[in-house]
Amino acid sequence: MKKVLIDCDPGIDDALALALIAGSRDALDLVGVTTVGGNVDLSLTTANALALREFLDLGDVPVTPGSAGALLRHTVRATVHGTSGLGTVVLPAPLRGPSPGHAVDFIVDALRAAPGEITLVGVGPLTNLALAVRKEPRVVEWARDIVIMGGSYTRGNHTPAAEFNMLADPEAAAIVFEAGWTVTMVGLDVTLSAVVDTAVLDRMRPLGRLAELLVPGAQSYKEVTDDDGPAIHDACAVAYVLDPSLFTCVPAVVNVETAGIHTRGMTVTDFAVTGRQANALVATALDVPRFWDLMIAAYGRLAAR
Ligand code: BDR
Ligand code: CA
Repeated sequence: MKKVLIDCDPGIDDALALALIAGSRDALDLVGVTTVGGNVDLSLTTANALALREFLDLGDVPVTPGSAGALLRHTVRATVHGTSGLGTVVLPAPLRGPSPGHAVDFIVDALRAAPGEITLVGVGPLTNLALAVRKEPRVVEWARDIVIMGGSYTRGNHTPAAEFNMLADPEAAAIVFEAGWTVTMVGLDVTLSAVVDTAVLDRMRPLGRLAELLVPGAQSYKEVTDDDGPAIHDACAVAYVLDPSLFTCVPAVVNVETAGIHTRGMTVTDFAVTGRQANALVATALDVPRFWDLMIAAYGRLAAR
């Protein structure tokens, strides 16, 4: 059983990542969900996380809100998730509210209480995780691992150079990459191959009430850059935690560009140019058929509950 703490901004693909966790109870012990302003405002990402906790039967896992905006400069939002953050999906209103306190304190306290046990999964802007590093630098030693969906060594999706989570808070991303741990970067290089095409949709349709979330969610989440269907980026980071053998990963040095006019938020990736010590493990390939087998099996288990 791996303990995971997910920091997220639901977000349609964040919802699909949470659904993967919910369907993987035998392998993952979810210790907390923290929220960050990102795809939509913090009030909405938190409301969506609360609704998802109940819809996905995530039990009593705490949902703790965190940072509303980036460390510096302006806020960036992702219109592809619609005004609510969940596209056309409408979930029942949650009965329970968020936990008291702030996500940054929750992250620090959770890691302090279980050193070496918790894998951090960051699938939104990295504001909360950067602040946790600044508030208590020992989180870097205490985390078992850190896996993020973000960045790319080939292209961006919100600008030609920058992926959304990196662009939304480049200073935070720079802090996280430079903290002294090895960040597993599951970026656009692989997530853009995790496309919900018609064959995948056909496999999702029989999933009962879960299909109400997965099918319209997937259908409405279509980025302009995707030809065949939406790519469910954030679920890839959770899939990595569940089964790293789905991915090919290469050590590299990743620096986040914070100053560039055209390149702000770019994850500049050095695979072996300078000989510096790697600070990241960068996903370079995904076994797409096995990825979907894992996803659909987890969703099936969740639907059967
Ligand atoms: C990332 O940006 C967000 O819109 C998604 O939720 C995902 O985390 C993909 O670039
Ligand atoms: Ca996200």
